Amino acid sequence: MGSTYKILHPTDLEAVDNEKKTFALDVLVGLSETPKRLSSRYFYDERGSQLFEQIMDLPEYYLTKCEFNIFENKQVEIAQLVRGEKFNLVELGAGDGRKTSLLINHFLRNGFRFQYVPIDISESAMKTLTDFLNKSFPELETTGIVAEYFNGLKWLNNITGSRNLVLFLGSNLGNFNKPQSRVFLRNLWNTLNDGDYLLTGFDLKKDIDLMLKAYNDSQGITREFNLNLLRRINTELKGDFDIDKFRHYSGYDVFTGAMESYLVSLENQTVFIKDIGQSFAFQEWEPIHTEYSYKYLESDIRELAEATGFVIEKQLYDSRKWFVDSVWKVQKVNHRDTT
Ligand code: TRP
Repeated sequence: MGSTYKILHPTDLEAVDNEKKTFALDVLVGLSETPKRLSSRYFYDERGSQLFEQIMDLPEYYLTKCEFNIFENKQVEIAQLVRGEKFNLVELGAGDGRKTSLLINHFLRNGFRFQYVPIDISESAMKTLTDFLNKSFPELETTGIVAEYFNGLKWLNNITGSRNLVLFLGSNLGNFNKPQSRVFLRNLWNTLNDGDYLLTGFDLKKDIDLMLKAYNDSQGITREFNLNLLRRINTELKGDFDIDKFRHYSGYDVFTGAMESYLVSLENQTVFIKDIGQSFAFQEWEPIHTEYSYKYLESDIRELAEATGFVIEKQLYDSRKWFVDSVWKVQKVNHRDTT
């Protein structure tokens, strides 16, 4: 019993070196494109993760509040999925585990037989999480896996035959565009077993002003969070971005259904990144795209489930119906088994 974690890919020097190389390569490719872009996966270094936690606490950032509301009110519905059997509660990209704690607490109080399996690529996030779980739930069995999601899941399936209930919370899926989310979900389907469950968060389309406020908070924390990407390039790749010469901008595209975030250059300028050995020119008002956060209609969710081999089991809404945690069952029988 107790909470520990395993590192599937040891972060030895070579791995750290590879990580840095990948970051440098992604920055080089992204800033060489027109329009320029930087991947949102690089938001989450230590400072970025802290800033995102502050974002989740903001009154304007309704997404986290909605999902807390769901986890407070729908525990019984979720518990019904796995009642009476031994199962794995898997979480992809667990973060600080605050939302999941509500569910874990409910499962423990009701004597469910399960282990919690958070999978995350960041070892420091995993350490913080397992320390927190050891303190909060000494009786909980946790096997954290530090790995890419699909590698972690494959490893897990090799050592247990139990049913998986996989959590992919927040706006994680929404950060993929349509084709990417299909590929991701189909990969997940391939990795999971018939009858496994997936619980995914979908932010629903809603009043545009509410969405704009959530991504442009009055305290400027979202701004800091977005600009942190440039800070990261400065510290990790020896860049010389002048942070004050860029501004945060988030807008909603009604047609694609995405909140889209950018960093916009406030003047003509050239930035040198030493570890890439190259300069990048920015014109006044030139944007760098940093993130998509897709918002969904009910019909989008149905189409996505159907296209990727899942059956929708339950729709768990928050009390305002702004957000849904959609529970899908993996269906492999009677479904063409493609890879
Ligand atoms: N993934 C989060 C989301 O889509 C991250 C986020 C919140 C974000 N606010 C942001 C990303 C502002 C870029 C800019 O909701």
